[in-house]
Amino acid sequence: MPGYTPGRSIEAVARELGLNDIVKLASNESLWGPSPAVLQAAQNALSRLHQYPEVIPIDLVNALVQHSGFSQDHLLVGNGADELLRLVATVYVRPGDRVLYPQPSFAAYAYGASLMGGRGVPIALTSKGQMDLDAMAEQVDESTSLIYLCSPNNPTGGIFRQRAWDTFLTRVAHRAVIVVDQAYREFVDDPGYAHIEDDIQAGAPVVMVRTFSKLYGLAGARIGWLAAPPEIIQLLMRVREPFSLNTMGIAAASKALEDHEYFDRVQRETLQLRGWLRRELEERSYRVLDSQANFLTFDCQMDALGLAKLMERKGVIIRPTTSFGLDGHCRVSIAPRPLLERFLQALDEVTSSIRGD
Ligand SMILES: Cc1ncc(COP(=O)(O)O)c(C=O)c1O
Repeated sequence: MPGYTPGRSIEAVARELGLNDIVKLASNESLWGPSPAVLQAAQNALSRLHQYPEVIPIDLVNALVQHSGFSQDHLLVGNGADELLRLVATVYVRPGDRVLYPQPSFAAYAYGASLMGGRGVPIALTSKGQMDLDAMAEQVDESTSLIYLCSPNNPTGGIFRQRAWDTFLTRVAHRAVIVVDQAYREFVDDPGYAHIEDDIQAGAPVVMVRTFSKLYGLAGARIGWLAAPPEIIQLLMRVREPFSLNTMGIAAASKALEDHEYFDRVQRETLQLRGWLRRELEERSYRVLDSQANFLTFDCQMDALGLAKLMERKGVIIRPTTSFGLDGHCRVSIAPRPLLERFLQALDEVTSSIRGD
């Protein structure tokens, strides 16, 4: 089994370099954090810490019914998108099955495949960093049980479009289960983005995975959810751990779905700052990938691990995408403007010292 390579934590960098003012832009967390109302809801839940969490968090599921338009029997809440991505592999992958996933992309797909003894089949992205759905459809055979897609894709930020999705689904439907990881869905503003909800409502074997870790700022609370046809939900329910959720996370996520004003503002600011940071990087002659997520990935024109190390010394943690299989690029999370300014200043200092200015 290949292990997971996480982004460097603030604590690890602080210990190693003796720094105390560090900004982490390496894991696409929300640096706006959750709203005060959400924090209060989590705090109130502390009084129930001696009780087991709900196996099915009814208030949260009802809030998701309102939010998503899916009925209860189409929904499942899990311990982050991570648990749900793995759960689908647990149910559908038999030893020797082929599992298709994009490359470079999020490591959980290859992990889910190999955990269940499946054969991972990485399919290269297009030159624009988007899923190559045609290439994927061509790879589906009788031994293919599961396909993971990621839109927007981590670490490139690319999406797939409605027409490409419709064609793909026609070619593949009912030959394999298709998981669409939409962890970054809330940051999409491209009108061509493929909507898959109607296909799920129509019973296609499609699983849409979402998370509270990104826009809602609850990465530490570990709450994700998925929507799928009821017969898929029932199988996933049989295999999942009954108490994988936690009481504070459930309370926080339920409140987050009510606090439209706060999260709409975070969403708006993230999109504005994504455009701004992209222009700033391009002015410095970096090639930036088209991103529909809360991060930008750019060709850093040097060894990415080396750049990330030098940035750490300035107290700024960014993510070299080398462990994803994308060399020579770094990924930076969108954050409130003062933090992005600090990132740019550190980048300027590092690059001018390399050039010997
Ligand atoms: C594409 C993608 N899917 C899933 C996750 C994990 O989300 P969660 O925190 O809900 O487990 C991440 C986290 O970075 C991600 O980038």
